[in-house]
Amino acid sequence: MATDKSWQWWKEHTPQYFHKFAMSRRQRVIMAVFLLGSFVYIILTQERVVRTQGPTEFELALRKRRAVHMLGRVPGEPTHPEVRKFCSGLAKQNPNLVAENESSPVIYVVTPTYKRPEMVAELTRLGQTLTMVQRIHWIVAEDSATCSAPITSLLKRLGLPYTHLATPMPEIYRREKFVPRGVSNRRAALQWVQANGENTGVLFFLDDDNAVDIRLFEEMRSTKTVSMWPVGLIGEYTVSSPIVKEGKVVGFYDGWPAGRKFQVDMAGFAVGVGYMKKQRKVTMPYIAGHEEDGFLKSLNLSISNIEVKADRCTNILVWHTRTAKNPIRTLNMETHQNDNIKVLADNMRHLGMIK
Ligand code: UGA
Ligand code: MN
Repeated sequence: MATDKSWQWWKEHTPQYFHKFAMSRRQRVIMAVFLLGSFVYIILTQERVVRTQGPTEFELALRKRRAVHMLGRVPGEPTHPEVRKFCSGLAKQNPNLVAENESSPVIYVVTPTYKRPEMVAELTRLGQTLTMVQRIHWIVAEDSATCSAPITSLLKRLGLPYTHLATPMPEIYRREKFVPRGVSNRRAALQWVQANGENTGVLFFLDDDNAVDIRLFEEMRSTKTVSMWPVGLIGEYTVSSPIVKEGKVVGFYDGWPAGRKFQVDMAGFAVGVGYMKKQRKVTMPYIAGHEEDGFLKSLNLSISNIEVKADRCTNILVWHTRTAKNPIRTLNMETHQNDNIKVLADNMRHLGMIK
């Protein structure tokens, strides 16, 4: 039983009934550590709840966000350092590609990607589309600790100005119920554009599985703040588009409002690099389904300042297509040690198509 001064104080200042709860100094320390630990645990799990909220529960997450804000933390902002590696790049376009008008704004196309059997196919298709467009800088950011060799060769072969990054998603997000796909990649690319992009340039996020009409690039090239257009083959309405009246955006036609101010898909907008650089804190949150909205809000954009493209948002120039997933197989090579199938399998393995 405690005999120190605080025990005396306890005896003098509390009713008799509480005296049986007196603790030794050691017990008090244990109790204090326990309480502190519980407090820290509650704070950390609260933060986790915010991040794991499914898109439909966003309103709930917003309420919790306020509590996290009070502790100086913002939901969706990483709590651990992000790994970012520059692999290779090319500053000037190969002269064999389309003629370039050097005074025309550069479009920084940001493509997140990750290792799977379809990766090389997706990037080959997309990259070849991009070679038909002048003044493009393609930023390919892999959700991986290392850059894949076939992607490096593809980028070199295409001859487009490019930047190849390795930008793995922090493990903590990979374990979540709704994984924020492509966010670590885009955040790294954003940092790259802010450090290296020309002020007259334009930023455009283009996922590796989407389909794009090259006329879209000439639409977005004049973007000063943020421009928008419809995206086809997405969500319940088969389209996501700004609603335009008298040349101005007045709202959004999108099958998944989810409490978002900007109800748009990643492929549905472009940003003026100069405008973006002027903003105080540009970010993209690690919150699945709310990456676009979080990013556009961080640009301090008001709906009335959105530049309308694609013939007043009446044309489809980009589609949110998705590729069927293939299992990663191991081929049976028993009877093919002396024919082309053996070499074919080795090549497919190099492309990440089989184990
Ligand atoms: C939709 C939106 O179009 C994306 O912009 C958004 O990031 C995503 O939802 C989301 O909210 O999670 P969706 O077709 O459902 O896209 O997603 P994916 O195409 O599977 O992924 C989006 C991009 O992230 C792709 O370029 C993909 O290669 C990349 N990704 C995906 C990764 O880098 N890592 C992954 O683990 C998965
Ligand atoms: Mn996709």
